[in-house]
Amino acid sequence: MAKLKPSKGAPYARILGVGGYRPTRVVPNEVILEKIDSSDEWIRSRSGIQTRHWANDEETVAAMSIEASGKAIADAGIAAEQIGGVIVSTVSHFKQTPAVATEIADKLGTNKAAAFDISAGCAGFGYGLTLAKGMIVEGSAEYVLVIGVERLSDLTDLEDRATAFLFGDGAGAVVVGPSQEPAIGPTVWGSEGDKSETIKQTVPWNEYDSSTDKFPAITQEGQAVFRWAVFEMAKVAQQALDAAGITPDDLDVFIPHQANERIIDSMVKTLKLPEHVTVARDVRTTGNTSAASIPLAMERLLATGEAKSGDTALVIGFGAGLVYAATVVTLP
Ligand SMILES: CC(C)(COP(=O)(O)OP(=O)(O)OC[C@H]1O[C@@H](n2cnc3c(N)ncnc32)[C@H](O)[C@@H]1OP(=O)(O)O)[C@@H](O)C(=O)NCCC(=O)NCCS
Repeated sequence: MAKLKPSKGAPYARILGVGGYRPTRVVPNEVILEKIDSSDEWIRSRSGIQTRHWANDEETVAAMSIEASGKAIADAGIAAEQIGGVIVSTVSHFKQTPAVATEIADKLGTNKAAAFDISAGCAGFGYGLTLAKGMIVEGSAEYVLVIGVERLSDLTDLEDRATAFLFGDGAGAVVVGPSQEPAIGPTVWGSEGDKSETIKQTVPWNEYDSSTDKFPAITQEGQAVFRWAVFEMAKVAQQALDAAGITPDDLDVFIPHQANERIIDSMVKTLKLPEHVTVARDVRTTGNTSAASIPLAMERLLATGEAKSGDTALVIGFGAGLVYAATVVTLP
């Protein structure tokens, strides 16, 4: 058996830069109420959401990703050519093949980066981050771009009162690169496919009949998902803290998936996060943007000064699959 050279990667990886793109159109609850029997008060009190952004025809999955990535690359202070990997997490890119990641990599001018899409719902950012860290430590890329991007407005049934108000569009991106010390903790992740029916596309593409069916949309069993998120995800978040060897007292920032502010409140309580921990509440003005929600919330906290570079943050994503991923990171 031939003896192979060991791969030579960086000792550790860290997030070096973050960028976000929110579509120009801001959609208040009043617009949602045109199609469902509900109220602004009900939506705000049950979900925390006041407004969300919806993309126009020009704000495609690729275009929003390129905007967010450009900012992340500038924030990281590197050149696009140094990027060796582009990972795009999305469930709302309508062309099955090729991966949208290759188009994004090309338009960004990256140096023939390995480029691929992943489908991990609202845990997509954590899945991408974990892969990126592995690539950097293993030595197959020096810098990796991780993008979470969605146009969920395309997959929302505006007449479904259980989901019409929840979803939004946008892109968030981070550049991950080498580090001399640990700055992305061990990931606690997994799937519960026995609950795959709780969040799903209404009709598979190959069974969709445009003459009889509504355009496929995301449907969910709201209460079941809510209970799972509240009870199970707090445990996963605690496991990520344990795996990183820290306690809630050591945290500066908590960036959970922006699905529903009541889920966020419940996790804060269960985890007994101290007062000094800044909690992302981007859901209020961004809605649930699935894979984009964590990097968008991260970018906003840093931009507003609510969080600062070097802060220790717990991030946790969870959603369709059901899937989840939690880790502790040092903010860029
Ligand atoms: C969707 C969600 C906000 C609904 O809130 P909820 O408190 O669970 O609401 P329920 O479905 O139990 O409905 C409660 C009542 O409000 C009513 N209701 C449902 N949707 C409504 C709406 N849009 N407007 C007004 N009333 C509504 C229901 O008919 C029900 O009325 P009833 O008590 O008279 O039967 C909540 O379940 C949720 O956020 N779930 C998780 C969503 C999520 O995170 N998904 C993505 C994970 S990635």
